[in-house]
Amino acid sequence: MIPETIEGYGVRLRPTRSTDVPDLVAGCTDPQTRRYLPALPDPYDADSARWWIAEGEPAVWAAGGCAYAVADPETDRLVGGVGLTRLAVARADFEIGYWVVPWARGRGVATAATRLLGERAFATGAARLELLTHRENEPSQRTALACGYRHEGVRRAAGAARDGVRHDLVAWVRLADDPPGPTARLLPDLPSGRLSDGVVTLRRLEPADADALHRLHTLPEVVANRVPPVPPDRESIARRCRLAAGYWLAGDAADLAILETATGALVGGCALGYDEPATGQATLGYSLLPEARGRGLAARAVRLVAGWAFGVGVARLWAGTRVQNVASQRVLERAGFQREGLLRGRVPGAAGERTDSVVFGRLASDRD
Ligand SMILES: CC(C)(COP(=O)(O)OP(=O)(O)OC[C@H]1O[C@@H](n2cnc3c(N)ncnc32)[C@H](O)[C@@H]1OP(=O)(O)O)[C@@H](O)C(=O)NCCC(=O)NCCS
Repeated sequence: MIPETIEGYGVRLRPTRSTDVPDLVAGCTDPQTRRYLPALPDPYDADSARWWIAEGEPAVWAAGGCAYAVADPETDRLVGGVGLTRLAVARADFEIGYWVVPWARGRGVATAATRLLGERAFATGAARLELLTHRENEPSQRTALACGYRHEGVRRAAGAARDGVRHDLVAWVRLADDPPGPTARLLPDLPSGRLSDGVVTLRRLEPADADALHRLHTLPEVVANRVPPVPPDRESIARRCRLAAGYWLAGDAADLAILETATGALVGGCALGYDEPATGQATLGYSLLPEARGRGLAARAVRLVAGWAFGVGVARLWAGTRVQNVASQRVLERAGFQREGLLRGRVPGAAGERTDSVVFGRLASDRD
């Protein structure tokens, strides 16, 4: 049985009470809270908060879960909420969820509250805690990792936005016997968020990169090297930029913008896909806008990404080029890759035909 009040480091979990109503309303009308917790009443006002205290919270307990106000232990003021929903009695399986008022974010409240409730849940019989996040909810995915939850997969169309449109949710899971501490990431953050050699700078793709990236990926010579070679629409590129943080945190891909250091202008893109973590193998793709070509910037970018990737544990990098794409093959050679062979019919062409690919590879142990 989980107790009514739990004291932890930096947070107190306690029942929500009537004096919390103004903070509850402020927290639950915040746009981020509303976006990522779409089941909250709409609009959310003092009556909604009073309903939660009188009926909502007791109903969660009655169904075998628990719901707490997260309070600042110094002042007892409400700074958020955290709770468990029972998923399957026989499997001792629960879903955990949380939110934090905007003025208390970014100082470890969610991490402390989620760890604390998780420890209590495991100590009182839970076997598995599942946390479902929107792929664009970077703070929540970072909270999951900080609390030792592992990326398990995607629940397709498991979420529904307020307008009814369904979207995928990412499943993060912690088991009772998982090791303590944060989850180690396959692809850690870049040091200070950047890689630079003084001429080019790389950083994670951002939503604001969508226009430049769309221009890049609809150039005929860039399209010809896409798999399959079809121009993407603006929305798929915008989505790629919005989801870059999520894929990175999940350890799937490091999708980067290449900037000219002197001007800060986006001149290209470089993506590392962690296609085979079990063997330490990742793949690279890159392209530059026409005005940035012919100055060795792509080789600089590939060299920077390779250096970072080998430093975080990737053992082998490979890239495939079309047979006639001599410029790309030169980029790889200049970045220390070796030509390894020809894979016949490796990638699909525009009309369903198969296209050969020249494979280049570089090992962490290769000399620079
Ligand atoms: C998600 C949420 C609860 C996080 O609360 P918080 O108290 O700010 O989280 P913490 O301070 O414990 O930080 C947790 C991690 O998120 C990171 N983080 C916090 N704010 C961030 C931001 N705006 N952008 C990117 N990362 C952020 C922190 O750096 C930390 O990661 P680290 O361990 O790698 O350093 C809060 O943003 C929120 O209430 N959002 C709206 C509701 C919601 O999304 N609930 C979860 C639904 S799944």
